[in-house]
Amino acid sequence: MKKLVILASGNGSLAQAIIENLGIEAHIIAVVSDRNDAFVLDRARKHSIPTQVIEMKSDRDRWNQEIIDCITKLNPDLVVSAGFMRILSPEFVRKFPTINSHPALLPQFPGAHAVRDALAAGVNVTGTTIHWVDEGIDTGKIIMQAQVSIFPGDNEASLHERIKEVERGLIVAAIKEVLPTLESRNG
Ligand code: GAR
Repeated sequence: MKKLVILASGNGSLAQAIIENLGIEAHIIAVVSDRNDAFVLDRARKHSIPTQVIEMKSDRDRWNQEIIDCITKLNPDLVVSAGFMRILSPEFVRKFPTINSHPALLPQFPGAHAVRDALAAGVNVTGTTIHWVDEGIDTGKIIMQAQVSIFPGDNEASLHERIKEVERGLIVAAIKEVLPTLESRNG
C-alpha cells in the first residue's frame, strides 16, 4: 500500500476529507504542520494519525532542512500539501513527489491570497486546481481543475468556503488518480 504524508497549516478541512475518503488505496502515515496550534493536528489525532510539527525558524535554511529530514524519515510515496501555507524548497520538491491544492483556476491567481485576488479582479468564475509542486509558486503541472461561480454579494469567506466544498472532493480524486502512477518507494 502506498504511503502518504499530508502537510497542512491550519483548519485542515481538506486533510479531513482525505482522511475520511481515501479508503484502502493509501495509508496516511503522518500529518505534518508548521504550526503547533493548527486544528488539523487535532483532526489527525482523532483518527490516530501520527503528527509532527516543524515550526518556522528565523533561520529559513534550517527549517528547509528540518522538513526535508522529517519527510525523509517518514519516506512517503506522495506528499500532499493541503492548506500548507509555506513555500517548499527546490531541494524538497526535487526529492519528494508533492501535489498541492490551490483555491483558484491556475495559472490565474497564484500565491497566498488567491480568493481575495479573484474577487478583486471582478471575474465571474474562479475555482480550484490540484497541481504538482515544482520550484515555482503554484506553477507546476496541473492535474485537475474545477470551476466555482462567484455570486454577487460574495465575500472572501463565503467564496472560499464554496471553493473548499469543491476542493475536498477534487483533492481526493486527484490523489486516487496519481497514486497508481507512482513507483512505490517502500517495496
Ligand atoms: C484551501 O482552500 C487550500 O487550497 C488553501 O488553504 C485552504 C485550506 O483549507 N491553500 C492555499 O491557499 C495554499 N496557497 P483547510 O485548512 O480548511 O483545509
